[in-house]
Amino acid sequence: MIKKIGVLTSGGDAPGMNAAVAGVVKAASAKGIEVYGIKDGYKGLVNGWIEKIDVDFAQEILTRGGTALGSARLPEFKEEAVRQVAVDNLKKAGIEALVVCGGDGSYMGAQRLTEMGINCVGLPGTIDNDIVSSDYTIGFDTALNTIVEAIDRIRDTMQSHNRAAVVEVMGNHCGDLALYAGTATGCEVISTSESQLTEEEICQQVKVLAEAGKRSVIVLVSEKLYDANKLAEKVEAVSGYVTRATILGHTQRGGIPTAMDRYLAITSAIYAVEQLANGNGGVYVGLDGNKLVARDIDSTLNMPRKDKSQEIATIRLLNAQFKNK
Ligand code: F6P
Repeated sequence: MIKKIGVLTSGGDAPGMNAAVAGVVKAASAKGIEVYGIKDGYKGLVNGWIEKIDVDFAQEILTRGGTALGSARLPEFKEEAVRQVAVDNLKKAGIEALVVCGGDGSYMGAQRLTEMGINCVGLPGTIDNDIVSSDYTIGFDTALNTIVEAIDRIRDTMQSHNRAAVVEVMGNHCGDLALYAGTATGCEVISTSESQLTEEEICQQVKVLAEAGKRSVIVLVSEKLYDANKLAEKVEAVSGYVTRATILGHTQRGGIPTAMDRYLAITSAIYAVEQLANGNGGVYVGLDGNKLVARDIDSTLNMPRKDKSQEIATIRLLNAQFKNK
């Protein structure tokens, strides 16, 4: 049985990462396994920023946003020589296996470390929900709720002033934050990375609503598709609505994790520790139809993304309806 494991958080932070670390510590401690926290992700592994953490630390951070261990992106980790330094540091500390909580950018590192003799198990930690091997990722629910609250507020003021709004949300190249938030708030126009509308299409859709007398319109867009401020100007010019842009930005990454994110994080962490205790490595934990599974990292990298275009089309149709009073 292994005696010492490490845990790190990697890539963009996500609410619930602390709960994941706490879950790892608690589950390992119950099995008599010591846990070492690595500061700032793979960067800390390379620099030897490794410190023992315990159940008191776990309880203290469990409910907090961000990641207490810190996170970083380290492109150099692709180089074998850099990874070898990390492996040497782990071996020096007697750490035999590792839990990595992060987005798809962290997968390759976990796979390579496993090949170099350190069993790694990954936990899907990102607000983007872009990890195909898991139905939901740790942090998605919190970010989604932050977005929904923001859009509800924006709606209040747009409705008061008979205006339109362009709201831009994160997601990297995944439209789930936009799709779920647009569904939950009834946004009239939704454009996501996978089902992108042209600026002209957006303007035309808003114009039709303006001409029919709709009091307020919200255009919800995924990041990296448009310049939100310029798009708002175009919408205003074509539709006649005074139009304001809001880029929600990093407000979406912070905040106290929701109960669902904490639950997913802790149950996934318990499952990850089980994997390592059984000598399993090179796998990422994911939610598959409400059941936790551990999939080979190699196979998860080649899994196709679910096609949500039909779902988006349906929501667009439903949300564009209104009855003039
Ligand atoms: O992956 C999480 C995420 O917040 C993406 O939604 C976004 O594209 C990116 O990270 C932003 O990264 P940074 O904080 O480095 O600007």
